[in-house]
Amino acid sequence: MVMTMELQNKRIVLGVTGGIAAYKSAELVRLLIKQGADVQVAMTEGAMRFVTPLTFQALSGQSVFASQWDERMPNGMAHIDLSRQADCILVAPASADFLARVVHGQADDLLATMVLARACPLLVAPAMNRQMWENAATQRNVTQLQADGVHILGPACGEQACGEVGAGRMLEPEEILEELIAFFTPKLLAGKRVLMTAGPTFEAIDPVRGITNLSSGRMGYAVARAARQAGAEVTLVSGPVGLVAPGGVDRINVRSALEMHAAVLSRAASADIFIGVAAVADYRVANSAEHKLKKDNGGIPPIELVENPDILAEVAALDGGPFCVGFAAESRNLEAYAQTKRRKKNIPLIAGNLIQDGFGGDDNTLILFDEAGAHPLKPAAKSVLASQLIEHIAH
Ligand code: PMT
Repeated sequence: MVMTMELQNKRIVLGVTGGIAAYKSAELVRLLIKQGADVQVAMTEGAMRFVTPLTFQALSGQSVFASQWDERMPNGMAHIDLSRQADCILVAPASADFLARVVHGQADDLLATMVLARACPLLVAPAMNRQMWENAATQRNVTQLQADGVHILGPACGEQACGEVGAGRMLEPEEILEELIAFFTPKLLAGKRVLMTAGPTFEAIDPVRGITNLSSGRMGYAVARAARQAGAEVTLVSGPVGLVAPGGVDRINVRSALEMHAAVLSRAASADIFIGVAAVADYRVANSAEHKLKKDNGGIPPIELVENPDILAEVAALDGGPFCVGFAAESRNLEAYAQTKRRKKNIPLIAGNLIQDGFGGDDNTLILFDEAGAHPLKPAAKSVLASQLIEHIAH
């Protein structure tokens, strides 16, 4: 697999405040480091009741700070020195008390003082009991923080440490990481609505058997994630795959090409961009059986095929429809076949890949074809190629 580090050269101050979710921040540090970030952890007194500084020190490879009066800072200005070079301060978990202190500009511990003295963006991932979250005081504070330009990540809904169920859970470390990567991604598609397809389709022969293909959905899901990180509102019409939808993406599950066709065509008129990454079956079974075919019914059952509608070509033919991008997977003659498909479907851009590169796996090699010719991209992780494709579309 081609490794990618999406937070390379980013210096992140991770503030940890007192809450049971503090243990999840240890995993967050690990994920941030894996993405190439430089992580400086600052803890409140409360946080140290839940997790020891040593845990964060071992994971981040840097000393952890908790006091304004820390003598390791020769000039006695930990609050300035630790955050001056930061690309952002991320506080996770952010307790109700901490949010209230930030709203009022308090500087009563190191982390609050760093936040007040910062020259970089602040992101907070609240974590608290659902009633504390719903309390009018907390809601007022959150509204004020948003007005002050603070980015609020979550919280999520679900079962809480106290046994109650509701809003107030900290986002999972993976979700916070996604939000952080999205935060640093240029918003090239801000305000745009992207409609896409991904994965295979499944054309039933009988209730348990069908015709499908080896598309894993990875390429399409990577494109959906990249579009969302670039600021687009993304609707992903997905064939049957075993992947989790990228955060913030509206996923619509379908099985057959006809279902995919209906889901796409009912939304296409309101989309700005349509990207067809799905490996849609060209044919479906005309005589799909209502009950399971039995071997002992005599003879091999005949399977009659009929052509499926071409979703991409139909969207491209819409009057005032979205900017359309197709994909083409070929086993040979990539340029000739991809350009022929592009012209036949009347679309401005098609991404070509060889089937041995594209299907399954985390990496791919893509060549973008438009009226001007071929634009090869270097072999890379699907996530990297997806970002490059989105940049190309945006430009
Ligand atoms: O999912 P992965 O394992 O990551 O693999 C990714 C991929 C190889 C499936 C992907 O990169 C890819 O190439 N997808 C297109 C596969 C293909 O060759 O499609 P096609 O030649 O059948 O169709 C060309 C284009 O028309 C595609 O954009 C397709 O979505 C679209 N189409 C095709 C038929 C149809 N009935 N309706 C369509 O919209």
